[in-house]
Amino acid sequence: MDAAPFNSIARRKLPPKQLIYRHEIWTRVTHWIWAVCLFFLLLSGLQIFNAHPVLYSGDQSGFGFDNTVFEIGSDSQNEVTGGYTEILGLRFNTSGYLGFSDGRARAFPSWATIPSGQNLAFGRVVHFFFAWLLVATLAAWFAASVLNRHLQRDLIPTAADFKALPQDIHDHLRLRFHHGRRYSVLQKLTYGGVLFVLLPLMIVTGLAMSPGVNAAVPWLTEVLGGRQTARTLHFLTMLALVGFFAIHMAMILAAGPFNELRSIITGWYRTDTSEEDHV
Ligand code: HEM
Repeated sequence: MDAAPFNSIARRKLPPKQLIYRHEIWTRVTHWIWAVCLFFLLLSGLQIFNAHPVLYSGDQSGFGFDNTVFEIGSDSQNEVTGGYTEILGLRFNTSGYLGFSDGRARAFPSWATIPSGQNLAFGRVVHFFFAWLLVATLAAWFAASVLNRHLQRDLIPTAADFKALPQDIHDHLRLRFHHGRRYSVLQKLTYGGVLFVLLPLMIVTGLAMSPGVNAAVPWLTEVLGGRQTARTLHFLTMLALVGFFAIHMAMILAAGPFNELRSIITGWYRTDTSEEDHV
């Protein structure tokens, strides 16, 4: 029997607001695992960064090189110590937050690192544990999303999506959200950017800093512009993920946190209309 007429009748009869099953178990479980991973990776990463709070370009660092791109440090003037952050030679006073905080010279403050005191060895153990957990979770997410068609159906933008992009940007700027079955094109592009660009770049630049990987696949570090550039890219990717997180939280608050959280925790989502993409 042809299901199309039946479907269109069913669609027309849908009540305007109804709960639909929007996020599969694999999407929800992997989402929360990588949220936890990124929390621990960020704070243990800042602990590791604090051991040498300077970033360079190229392959080498040290005296005789003039390749510093970023630095957090402290200096004393008239017996007063303060913290500074230097970006491409431009110095900013960041005392109290970066470089000098809680009466101590420290790049990132103790509340922003795991553990809170200086302990590089422990920070590395935490960092590598959650790094491998993130790699495994991403691999599981990818396999599940291909098999249950989440990737093809919900994340890969279509030609119609690109046509709707200007309208979607306009709607987002006015904080007007549509609560339908599908992600909007901006959501597809942003989530796709995180899952296929930022997280893989984070993993690849992390691997490029490992001496073991350097020995096994030296071309990886070369492709990324050298060990120091890989470290700088790793740091920039971290900043991009922190930026994504801030916008992600703001959008969830603006779109209705109860409904959004219910869907990423239980899978169930309340839609605005009986749009045809309920099916
Ligand atoms: C750094 C941590 C996080 C990252 C990288 C992240 C990333 C993502 C990604 C990529 C998706 C789409 C998943 C998919 O469709 O397969 C998503 C969805 C979602 N995330 Fe997060 N997330 C993070 C933390 C959080 C937190 C802490 C919350 C809640 C407070 C949250 C709430 C949501 C919700 C509600 C959705 C579904 C949005 C919708 O259906 O429109 N996320 N997140």
